[in-house]
Amino acid sequence: MDSQIFKAVMSRWVTGISVVTTTYEGEVQGFTANSFASVSIDPLLISMSVAKSLYAGELIQKSKTFAINVLTSDQIEWGKLFAGMYKDRENRFENILYNTTTTGCPILPGVYAWMGCSVYQTVDVGASNLILGEVEEAGILDDGEPLAYFQRQWGTFKAIE
Ligand SMILES: Cc1cc2nc3c(=O)[nH]c(=O)nc-3n(C[C@H](O)[C@H](O)[C@H](O)COP(=O)(O)O)c2cc1C
Repeated sequence: MDSQIFKAVMSRWVTGISVVTTTYEGEVQGFTANSFASVSIDPLLISMSVAKSLYAGELIQKSKTFAINVLTSDQIEWGKLFAGMYKDRENRFENILYNTTTTGCPILPGVYAWMGCSVYQTVDVGASNLILGEVEEAGILDDGEPLAYFQRQWGTFKAIE
């Protein structure tokens, strides 16, 4: 089947936006991801798909630790920054006063929610790795509106009855 129709269907699937962060030997890296999903309650597992081309993915495989940062709509600039949309920003963490998980993965200030995970399993799926993460710690921070992504546009959630 043609991948265009696959992409068109997936673009009609509304997602939240997370920034996945990791650390290895003192270096921190992060990237925007909307493939984050819940997998299991027992054990506590989440999944995400990471392109093999991503350097941050290599660090995750080395350190076996990462954090999920769930963004608010006010944090759209971080969504873009960590997607590599600002080519002049080489160090994506510059000027961001972040906290860390117990394993040292950045938790961005004021995020909607976060999770600290260890790599439970990695499934090789061609151009990407499907990573299952075991949730070791988590938190809920500021109030706000969630950042959403739909048909290549940034937005937020609107409740209906
Ligand atoms: C809305 C959105 C969602 C994304 N989700 C993912 C994802 O789930 N997995 C992934 O590997 N890349 C994802 N990306 C792309 C990465 O964020 C992007 O390739 C990366 O930050 C580029 O890093 P680089 O410039 O260091 O290669 C997403 C990008 C956007 C704009």
